[in-house]
Amino acid sequence: MCGIVGYTGPRQAYPVILKGLKRLEYRGYDSSGVALLHNGQLNVYKKKGKVADLEEMMIGKSLEATIGIGHTRWATHGEPSDRNAHPHSSKSGRLAMIHNGIIENYALIKQELLNKGYSFTSDTDTEVLLNFIEDIHQHIESGSLEEALRIALKRVSGAYCILLIDQNDPETIIAARKGSPLVIGIGKGEHFLASDASPIIEYTKEVVYVNDYELAIVKPDELILKNLGNEKITPFITKLDMELAAIEKGGYEHFMIKEIFEQPSTIYDCLRGRLDAAAGMIRMAGVDNHIEQLTNANRIMIVACGTSWHAGLVAEYIIEELCRIPVEVEYASEFRYRNPIVNKGDVIIAISQSGETADTLVALEKAKENGAFIFGIVNAVGSSIARLSNAGAYTHAGPEIGVASTKAFTGQLAVLMMVALTIAHHKKTITQERYQALLNELQDIPEKVAAILKNAEALRKMADKYKDASDFLFLGRGYNFPIALEGALKLKEISYIHAEGYPAAEMKHGPIALVDENLPVVFIATNDLYHEKIISNMQEIKARKGKIISIITEGDTTSPKLSHDYFTIPPVDELIAPILTVIPLQLLSYYVGIAKGIDVDKPRNLAKSVTVE
Ligand code: AGP
Ligand code: GLU
Repeated sequence: MCGIVGYTGPRQAYPVILKGLKRLEYRGYDSSGVALLHNGQLNVYKKKGKVADLEEMMIGKSLEATIGIGHTRWATHGEPSDRNAHPHSSKSGRLAMIHNGIIENYALIKQELLNKGYSFTSDTDTEVLLNFIEDIHQHIESGSLEEALRIALKRVSGAYCILLIDQNDPETIIAARKGSPLVIGIGKGEHFLASDASPIIEYTKEVVYVNDYELAIVKPDELILKNLGNEKITPFITKLDMELAAIEKGGYEHFMIKEIFEQPSTIYDCLRGRLDAAAGMIRMAGVDNHIEQLTNANRIMIVACGTSWHAGLVAEYIIEELCRIPVEVEYASEFRYRNPIVNKGDVIIAISQSGETADTLVALEKAKENGAFIFGIVNAVGSSIARLSNAGAYTHAGPEIGVASTKAFTGQLAVLMMVALTIAHHKKTITQERYQALLNELQDIPEKVAAILKNAEALRKMADKYKDASDFLFLGRGYNFPIALEGALKLKEISYIHAEGYPAAEMKHGPIALVDENLPVVFIATNDLYHEKIISNMQEIKARKGKIISIITEGDTTSPKLSHDYFTIPPVDELIAPILTVIPLQLLSYYVGIAKGIDVDKPRNLAKSVTVE
């Protein structure tokens, strides 16, 4: 994972890089570092911990430089430490490099270098690649670093985005990518390089997304793109459609709570221009242009990770119910290695907030090679998964920076519901009345989310009450079963409390053994087909003295009697309920996290974009 930034131009590089690293810190925060080149002197500074620790260490250091690179790390090879932090310096001290990804055959290359007398100061795969490049560089006739890099990369397997600077070349950053993202911002006589557009947006809106197997030679007033075969490629310049305010906290204490509270408007933005309940219509170009392919699918396979996978599970229930098409939901990491059967006529729906998740990306590449049609539901515009998909729909939730996914999830659900409704309408597997009723319900969702958020304080109080529990159980049935999984994942991520999500009825086949007077059990028990059944499950927990917290529909008079605490949501069709029931669970996790003093935007061991396997 990790975030990388580079700058070359007339400005002072350090402030640009530092600010960029702060924006990219969500991608990794085990350590950070910068390399600054000034008057032929290459200074490398790095520090374990967050970017703020680096910033403090830099006070009083020589910061003068108009070219530099910076890195914020999510460790894969070697513990988080000063020594393993990037940038790494080559043996001669002439080159400095930062890397996002994993060099899978690093051990073999390291052995070759050790045999040649190299020694290493870190445990990283990155330092091995850097010295491999330097070794080639010292032995090739042309003396070209670019050529040395090309030769090295042809031998490397794995994923990388690297930025490289050479002490003897005062203006140039050489970059290359395969599998990890890289965006280059084009300024006037200056260039910005970064893992995503957030460090660039305040300087320029013109960017080039670098593709896999491309190399960029970047000088203040020149950008050359080449492939590994040394052929030039014309850079394709895109205009960023993003405002600086979208990536700042705007008065909130954390990005996570800002993003939770943004949901009435992000869901509205997702529906806007697509859903017209009054006209009884949904218009989604990505769906409409491929409607026959989608409608005639023999099977839909949904591929995703984490929270996006939970959105896929909700979609499985909805698509099977409305469209009568068999759906399988796959963890991308499993799908990519288990030789899945993908037939012509199958549709793959890929769901990803970042659009850069390595497992999802590689699974899709594999499926695409086998001829599958890929429909992407992605939040990050222009990301790798969005570009790889044959068709798709953006969630339009805006940049999501808190590590725990919130607004992207509700956006995914909204898109999936519109996709399912469109297919069902076209396929005539839904009655006109039901179709219209669901359109009306969807249209009202932003308002209902806003109503739930008004009562956030009640969840803060609940969080204070239960924050010291060592375990939590989340239970739901039907459309709300995936929400139980999502509630448990949210709580684990940002409070470090062990939590499990289960289908409420499945609970009695094992997890019920955990129940005692210390175990909070969160029931998602809104009014639906299963309401009576879930009431029985509550009774079972109550009989064993578990502490019941329930998420229920306004007007439910039974559940409160069985619950120690409850939170009500507005009445909603059961099919659409997951967009609402997840909101109190997001808030509960957030408030437990902050009550425990955890940095909820950057919880330990995690990173926002998992761009490594
Ligand atoms: C969500 O809170 C997680 N941090 C994580 O599970 C995330 O959903 C997963 O890594 C998938 O990311 P993506 O949607 O960007 O592909
Ligand atoms: N593999 C490299 C390391 O462990 C880079 C990891 C990353 O992408 O942050 O340092």
